[in-house]
This record gives sequence, structure tokens and C-alpha cells, in this order.
Amino acid sequence: MTNQIAQSEQLAEDFVAKAKSRDLTVGIIGLGYVGLPLAEAFINAGIRVLGYDVDQEKVGAIKNAKTYIKHITDDRLTKMNETGRMEATTDETRLKEPDAILMCVPTPLNIHREPDISYVEHTSRAIAKHLRKGQIVILESTTYPGTSEEVVRPILEESGLKAGVDFAIAYSPEREDPGNPDFDTSSIPKVVGADSEPERQMAKALYATITTPFMVPNMKTAEAVKLTENIFRLVNIALVNELKVVFQGMDIDIWDVIEGAKSKPFGYMAFYPGPGLGGHCIPIDPFYLTWKARAHRQSTRFIELAGDVVMGMPRIVIETVAQGLSQKSQKSISGSRILVSGLAYKKGVDDMRESPSLHLIEMLQERGAKVDFYDPYIPVVPHTRDHPEFNGLKSIEFTRENLSGYDAVLISTDHDNVDYELIVDSAPLIIDTRNALAKFAESHGDKILKA
Ligand SMILES: NC(=O)c1ccc[n+]([C@@H]2O[C@H](COP(=O)([O-])OP(=O)(O)OC[C@H]3O[C@@H](n4cnc5c(N)ncnc54)[C@H](O)[C@@H]3O)[C@@H](O)[C@H]2O)c1
Repeated sequence: MTNQIAQSEQLAEDFVAKAKSRDLTVGIIGLGYVGLPLAEAFINAGIRVLGYDVDQEKVGAIKNAKTYIKHITDDRLTKMNETGRMEATTDETRLKEPDAILMCVPTPLNIHREPDISYVEHTSRAIAKHLRKGQIVILESTTYPGTSEEVVRPILEESGLKAGVDFAIAYSPEREDPGNPDFDTSSIPKVVGADSEPERQMAKALYATITTPFMVPNMKTAEAVKLTENIFRLVNIALVNELKVVFQGMDIDIWDVIEGAKSKPFGYMAFYPGPGLGGHCIPIDPFYLTWKARAHRQSTRFIELAGDVVMGMPRIVIETVAQGLSQKSQKSISGSRILVSGLAYKKGVDDMRESPSLHLIEMLQERGAKVDFYDPYIPVVPHTRDHPEFNGLKSIEFTRENLSGYDAVLISTDHDNVDYELIVDSAPLIIDTRNALAKFAESHGDKILKA
């Protein structure tokens, strides 16, 4: 036992020294929205990165500096390559090389809306095959409390090596906010948890090279922190959406209410209504906790209620479209031509995972509308698991002539680089779910409906 403690302390001491001198190779598994910016942060800190992904196209794209994530430009990829510190591979055997291995793989829900941690399991198995003494393995994917301890650790220990003695294990959730110009990896503190002091020291030294680590007592606490942050968002988004509907009935504009409430310098934080829930995180992560809570015989009524409220928003938006068409032109949704403006789940990104726009298009089509879309960042719809039928659909050309051919334009995502003036000038009716047309309220208020 004393030997084991001495061994783990020695491993930590060696690793911390290497981290301080930046003489490290960091392996990043999963080069997507989370893994790629993380790779860039380590490279900028003077550290070597070995990126590993099963997707040959991504690996090729990095080598050729051809980006597949809008805000990580070709130029940034070129700069990463020019340092000579960036390598990307599909060769799993190379996982024995890095000193630290960070897992940034998907954690979606399965068709029963239960956690699908198969990507974490596969990745852990791949690491276990090549695991060597002295490495630290850190899960960054969002997941339920207990995943690192109950799933990742036992798989890694199938290698015959012991966690906390021969190798280290930790958990650190990603807080990446794609497209946010105010914060990047280096300016967002990083929550880090590990179950022993030597492992904590190693994880802390690693992340201190790129940002400010915030240490919590163990891995499951770090896992719970991430879910808490996202559940906080879900609940508040649900609340403001409910208030939107309540106030609408009283002829009060929720956007004016929020501006008023924001003038309070404490005790209030603004959240905004929209057409529904989107993105890879908020519609999914909270349900990792509700699933785990069931195993502990705990109910999560509050979280599930919040989910129900926001899931109902697209239906309310569609009712507003129907009402607008009927009042404006005595038409119904059936047979109308409708343009959905914005396919991405939020402004400024090209990510349409779980985007409410897709649900809106589906619902409008079900009610007989002829629907097109416009998104400056998504010229062609890629394959998605939930909506394979939209695969290959093309964004329309954004011209006055095209816009005036629609019975209504539904603004679902408020990208900044859309010419909203042309929309209000050309379209007979606009349903605005994001308050993107606030400045046209006086000049064109008669054709704008907020939803
Ligand atoms: N996107 C975000 O803004 C964000 C923010 C915070 C946390 N997260 C969390 O981070 C994790 C990753 O999300 P993402 O958005 O980067 O996903 P992503 O789909 O953009 O990227 C995941 C990458 O993992 C690769 N991959 C899948 N299986 C693999 C395997 N077995 N071996 C190697 N590579 C494999 C995929 O090819 C893909 O390139 C998720 O848990 C997510 O919830 C995402």
C-alpha cells in the first residue's frame, strides 16, 4: 500500500514537472466542436497534440487545413499545422504515445431518450488496449455523475493497470460556447475533479497550461457541476418561454419585460424565449441526470416539467403562423409557401443538431405547407439522425424576388449576417421568434408577428 502511494506520488511529480516545462503530448480523442478548439488551446500553449478520430475526413481536413467547423477557420488550422505540434490520426495504436488523453466523444440520447454512452465505452476500450504507466486519462464529454468511476475506470483497468497507482484518471467538463466572441477555452475556468490527491495534481497541472483550473473534490462532483449548469439553463429557458405565452395573452411583450428586469443589477439573469430547444447540450444533458436519478429512486419532476414546457414551444409558434396567415391573407398553412429563416440551433453557428427549425419545418409540412429555408451558414442540409428526410435540401438564394414569393417568413434563428431589412420589405408576413426585427416595429409592425 505504501509502495502504491509512493508510486502514484512519483508519477504525479514527473507529470507535473513535464507539464510545467510544456514537454507534453496531449492526445485528444474526438476532433469535433469540443476536441478541435481544445487541441488549438494546447498548441497555443506550446504543447504537442495528437488528435485521434475515427472520422477519416476530419483527420484529412485538419492535415489540409480545410475547416469543417465554421469558427475554427482554415487560417487557424494552418497556424496550428505550422507550429509542427499538431498531428491528427485514425491510428488507434498511437494512443500509447500521449502523456494525457482527453476524451471528447459524443454523449447523445438513444431512441428511448436514455443516455447513450457507447462512444465513451468504445473510446475507453481503445485506450485500455494501449494504456501505459504514467498516463492520465480524462473524460470531457458531458455525462451523468458516476460515469468516470463506474464505466470508464473499470474498462481502463481491464488493461491490468490500476487507476490511481499506475495511471491517473480525472473528469473535466467542457464549457465551450461555439461562436461566442467574448469567451474562448483560455478565458473560461475549467472545473476539474479526480479521486486522489496525486491525480488531482496531474489534472490541475495539465489544465493550468491552457486556462484556470477550478478543482472540485472528485470526478462525480465535476460531472454533476456540468449537468447543474445546463439544467439551470433549461429551467430558466422554460420559465421565460412560459412567461412569454402568459404575457402575450395580456398584450405584454416579453422582450420589453426582460429589458426592464435586466435593469436590476443583482438577483436577475436574462434568458430569452425562442422557438424551442436546440443544440447538442440543453435538450439532452438534463436527461442524463433524470435517468441516473431514477436508479437512485429519486424523482426529477422539475427538470422534466421544464423539458415539457420548452418542447411545446414549436407548436405555439406554428399556431401563430396559422393565425397570421389567416388574418393577413385569409390563407391557411395548407397550400401556403413558407420560408424558415435560420436552420442552425442558435445565431452565428453552422450547427443544426436538435435545432427547433427542423421540428418547425416538419410540422409545417405535415400541415400541408410548401417550406423552404435560408441559412447563410448551412447551404445544404447534411445527414442528421433525427431528420434524414431533409438530407441534401438546399438553402434558397436570398433575393428580393425570392423573398416576395412566400406567404410568410418564419424567423427561427437570428443570425446577425442576414439582411432583415430586405425580409421586412419583401415578405407580406413575418413571424419573429427571436425579436430579430425589433428595430422595424414602427416602420413594418403591421406585417410582423412575434411568436
Ligand atoms: N458542442 C458543444 O458546444 C459542447 C459544449 C460542451 C460540452 N459538449 C460535450 O462534448 C462532447 C463532444 O461533443 P461535440 O459537440 O464535440 O461532438 P462532435 O460530434 O462535434 O465531435 C465528436 C467527435 O468524436 C468522434 N468520435 C466518435 N466516436 C469516436 C471514437 N470511438 N473514437 C474516436 N473518435 C470518435 C466523431 O467522429 C466526432 O468527430 C459531448 O459529450 C457534448 O455533450 C459539447
